[in-house]
Amino acid sequence: MRSPLSVLAILPLLCAVFDLSAADVRGEGDEVFADFEGADFGAWKVEGTAFGAGPAQGKVGDQWAVEGFHGHGLANSFHGGDAAEGKLVSPPFAIRRHFISFLIGGGGWEGRTCINLVIDGKIARTAAGPNTEPGGSEKLVPSGWDVGELAGKTASIEIVDAATGGWGHITVDDIVFTDAKPPLATRMLSYPSREIVADRWLNLPVKTGARKRTVLISRKGDGQIERRLEIELADGEPEWWGSLDVSPWRGETLCVSVDKLSSDSRGLERVASTATPIGRENLHGEALRPQFHFSAQRGWLNDPNGLAFYNGEYHMFFQHCPFSWSHAPNFWGHATSKDLVHWQELGDALAPDEFGGIWSGSGVVDSKNTSGLGESGKPPFVLVYTAGGQTQRIASSTDGRTFTKFAGNPVVKNITEGNRDPKVIWHEPTQQWVMVLYVELDHRHTVHFLTSPNLRDWTLASVLKGDAIGGNFLFECPDLFALPLDGDAKQMKWILSAANTEYVVGSFDGKTFAAETEKLPGQRGGKPQSREWSDWSYYAPQTFSDEPKGRRVQIGWWQTVTRGMPFNQSMSLPFELRLVSTGEGPRLAWKPVEEVASLRGEAHALQPFKLTPETANPLAAISGELLEIEAEFEPEGEAEVTFSVRGVPLIYDAKQQVLTVNGRHAPAPLEKGRQTLTIFADRTGIEILASGGRTFIPVPLNLDPKETSLSLAARRASVQFRRLEVYELRSIWGR
Ligand code: FRU
Repeated sequence: MRSPLSVLAILPLLCAVFDLSAADVRGEGDEVFADFEGADFGAWKVEGTAFGAGPAQGKVGDQWAVEGFHGHGLANSFHGGDAAEGKLVSPPFAIRRHFISFLIGGGGWEGRTCINLVIDGKIARTAAGPNTEPGGSEKLVPSGWDVGELAGKTASIEIVDAATGGWGHITVDDIVFTDAKPPLATRMLSYPSREIVADRWLNLPVKTGARKRTVLISRKGDGQIERRLEIELADGEPEWWGSLDVSPWRGETLCVSVDKLSSDSRGLERVASTATPIGRENLHGEALRPQFHFSAQRGWLNDPNGLAFYNGEYHMFFQHCPFSWSHAPNFWGHATSKDLVHWQELGDALAPDEFGGIWSGSGVVDSKNTSGLGESGKPPFVLVYTAGGQTQRIASSTDGRTFTKFAGNPVVKNITEGNRDPKVIWHEPTQQWVMVLYVELDHRHTVHFLTSPNLRDWTLASVLKGDAIGGNFLFECPDLFALPLDGDAKQMKWILSAANTEYVVGSFDGKTFAAETEKLPGQRGGKPQSREWSDWSYYAPQTFSDEPKGRRVQIGWWQTVTRGMPFNQSMSLPFELRLVSTGEGPRLAWKPVEEVASLRGEAHALQPFKLTPETANPLAAISGELLEIEAEFEPEGEAEVTFSVRGVPLIYDAKQQVLTVNGRHAPAPLEKGRQTLTIFADRTGIEILASGGRTFIPVPLNLDPKETSLSLAARRASVQFRRLEVYELRSIWGR
């Protein structure tokens, strides 16, 4: 056991010394910007209810005694207690002094109970109150910002109460423009901290399942918080390392602060900055690493985001928690590929900020530079995302590597409490951008359609509630795209799809979607007993924008679980979508993109043959870990065909026309008496396409590494095999 002194040992490294002695002096020539002595807030804009109609005279209601403010009045967001929320926004002013000082008290919730300096719609400085623990005091303390480098800029100040729990309020008084240095707020006044010189990567020790800690990375120079991470911080021996790209600050001194640290924790002292990430020796060789499905090198992954082809590469971003095995506020991870199959993971492209995690969204190539975010003839690659589930924002790049959040964000303000996952497309006939947005409205799922000439200014065009098509409509992560029915360009149909792959086929005029079908199930393979419902193991799929071959290619989050690994979850194979006519109407069909065939190694093709109930296993001589099976067969009468793929049974019942995979049933109709199956087996699951791709069954399942056999048998009647090919696949990781 280490002594509790170990925390004290790092105290000398505290980056932001909260020097109270410098407080409370109003120097000569100071300009008092707001002292809250008036009867109302004057030119300040008041939002919400928490700040009341005007300055408070000390405490509000049953608040504890408020002290440390000047004069009689202060801004106090305790009207309505902790539960109330609100905001005060100052009129604009020009920055002329070196510092802005103020008194601040109340909640210490970064981004939620705080005072912000806003320039060009962006928070340039922030400070929260002193309290996050029960107890504490309502005393206001002096604080401030160094704004020397911002001289001449026009700014405003906002005082924010967006917190409702304990210490869900803020108090502020005496905002003064001054040249006398106040104690500078770096939001880590009491946090254990240490300084570290940045190399390319900042490595932080992780233990899966450890209590999540908030880590702030700021620059020593200006105290500006550059990154906020949530991490399963290893107090003792790390299980794995998460690495943050700190190349923008290479050579600078960074301050790393943790919101809480147990007295014997070694988590902070282990943080190290290096030229290459620590602990990647066996990268992609881990026991449960999917070998031909993308997974993040480290940490949690969920939805694919920003799928697009830009500058000669496919780009895939993804919901990524690089410091946690489970979900936490997300970064956008980033990987590129030349062929949709082999991926190279780069550093994270977008990091959480004061507006929260970077939630799901999309990406488009703005080839006409409608946004004006392009540069010297280079069209911008524009990413559209949801900040913390609240507002829609954009970021752009002209090199496909570095992405800059737009200064005029948000581009779509909060509509309701649940609005997220913008999917943007260019609508050629009306020459405008269209955003499909999931919006929870009156406790119901709706899709909002917005339009824009330039990706910055958005107008609501229509709201689809889906009452006529199955009530409570599509949930989360919508996608909207057109496909030719049966490949006939004269019969274009629009498909609107949702996170669980449910979809509707219809028409779209650039503003309004008109459904022509009911809500249809996408992926199949529901829980035993239920033939209709999906298990959602393939979630939040998205299709690529600007696909150079004109295909509609989809990748989904495949919910594979990899316990004991330094990563979790994966992406599906890339699938090409087609719209095919069936007796029931138009339906989506999935097939792996042709590039997947490049993974084929050893091939075993059997000549057409008849499988009878007596036939010995025709696949007995074939085995493998990574496999693709292509089969076309015509069952006679009530035949039942059983494939066993690495120990997992796939049973096709020709009488019921149902495929049962590992106990899950899916309808798989015969087409002219024939069944067409494609089966992929990776370490963490099996993807099956049946009925020519109309039935898509993704099954996450960790396969037994020792079980590599294949078998095939018929029951009840014979089966005529027209085609049976087995391919041993190569890893995409070059192993
Ligand atoms: C879907 C989802 C999205 C959201 C994201 C957050 O899996 O809940 O709606 O944007 O994940 O990670």
